[in-house]
Amino acid sequence: MTKLWGGRFTKEAQAWVDAFGASIPFDQKLVIEDIEGSKAHVEMLATTGVITEEEQAEITQGLNELLQEAAEGKLAYKVENEDIHLNLEQLLIEKVGPVGGKLHTGRSRNDQVALDMHLYIKKQTEDMMSNIHRLQQVLVEQAEAHVETIFPGYTHLQRAQPVSFAHHLLAYVWMLERDYQRLNDSLKRVNVSPLGSGALAGTTFPIDRKQTAEALGFADVYANSMDAVSDRDFVLEFLSASSVIMMHLSRLSEEMILWSSEEFNFIELDDTFATGSSIMPQKKNPDMAELVRGKTGRVYGSLMSLLTMLKGLPLAYNKDMQEDKEGAFDTAVTVNGSLQIFAGMIETMHVKTEQMSSSTQQDFSNATEVADYLAAKGMPFREAHEVVGKLVLHCIHEGCYLKDLSMSVYQSASELFSEDIYEVIDPHFAVARRNSEGGTGFQEVREALKLAGNVLAEK
Ligand code: ARG
Repeated sequence: MTKLWGGRFTKEAQAWVDAFGASIPFDQKLVIEDIEGSKAHVEMLATTGVITEEEQAEITQGLNELLQEAAEGKLAYKVENEDIHLNLEQLLIEKVGPVGGKLHTGRSRNDQVALDMHLYIKKQTEDMMSNIHRLQQVLVEQAEAHVETIFPGYTHLQRAQPVSFAHHLLAYVWMLERDYQRLNDSLKRVNVSPLGSGALAGTTFPIDRKQTAEALGFADVYANSMDAVSDRDFVLEFLSASSVIMMHLSRLSEEMILWSSEEFNFIELDDTFATGSSIMPQKKNPDMAELVRGKTGRVYGSLMSLLTMLKGLPLAYNKDMQEDKEGAFDTAVTVNGSLQIFAGMIETMHVKTEQMSSSTQQDFSNATEVADYLAAKGMPFREAHEVVGKLVLHCIHEGCYLKDLSMSVYQSASELFSEDIYEVIDPHFAVARRNSEGGTGFQEVREALKLAGNVLAEK
């Protein structure tokens, strides 16, 4: 079969070489973007007088039919036609005849593929932002129900200080907010049209790049044709923002997995988001959280492979750049899917409030309270730390907790202790009082919920 670019070739192509070079198995995902780009291009060719109105009408008619067939999944691609761009051009020519060959006037596959990727990344970024927003809403809803649910806060995965469960959940809302803003910011750079840059040097035809940019919803055009066809920074930014999102989700996954274990026993996942074991009848496994944690690896992998692929490329387009696609496509599916799974998982999880709060009765996470108590009564904090450390050691020897110590034990440690110490070390009381800005005190958490609600409502 003859190639669309076959003029200067004398040997027949070999099927296995074609197969190695082809991107059609994966870039068919860009079919809609490619046709939309072509429609805008051909319309511009007519307004600038490069082709006639009649020619445009015929080509546009053909493109609309292809669009329809693509939506119905009826287009048959050929590996010999290498990629989505050449496949569609061939199908168009078969449909409308030689006039279809005018479509590619003043255009190259290099600006065409860059355009398709811009359109694709823009759409996926917007989807990702709305999926983040949904997950944030679900986290806020859970947080609203658990302002006064006390549970252990950890550092080094050792019990540290009791916190409000809402405060913990809200930490993820703010992490996701940064993710949202990162994506939003990246849209500025996605929102620039490379179309009309030709292969690398622009074109002699009197094209109007602003017209196609506007028709396709771009805010601007690339200033330099060589930069336009060789830039994949916007894909890198998408993969990089995605990597941070997955890192965040992976941390939350780890927590969900720990919390749903018998050892922690803080939550139970809804049946919909858990699986059983083929051999152990008692099992309820947090597979979805584990999978999200696991899938983080492939997203990082796509970022690393694109960074590495681009690093040695001379200007302008190089075929290496065809390798930008699979990682980007996979990342979009992985991250959007993970965000959706998380929204469902968080929304339906059962929070074991009793177990959470009773676990704070059996630990030393109120020790800072005791040290602060002494410091508030005038003892230098460093000294207070030492006194309480000794009390904790005493408890460990005795097999009890700080609340179990008698007044005489307290007073032999320091005369500053009086009866009110028992109230101070109550975890609920301890959390309630931490109302420094951004702290876990109930009042402060209620303020934070209002703030989060406002931030989400603005979107
Ligand atoms: N399939 C190619 C890609 O994905 C399209 C651009 C090809 N351009 C070229 N001059 N070979 O990058």
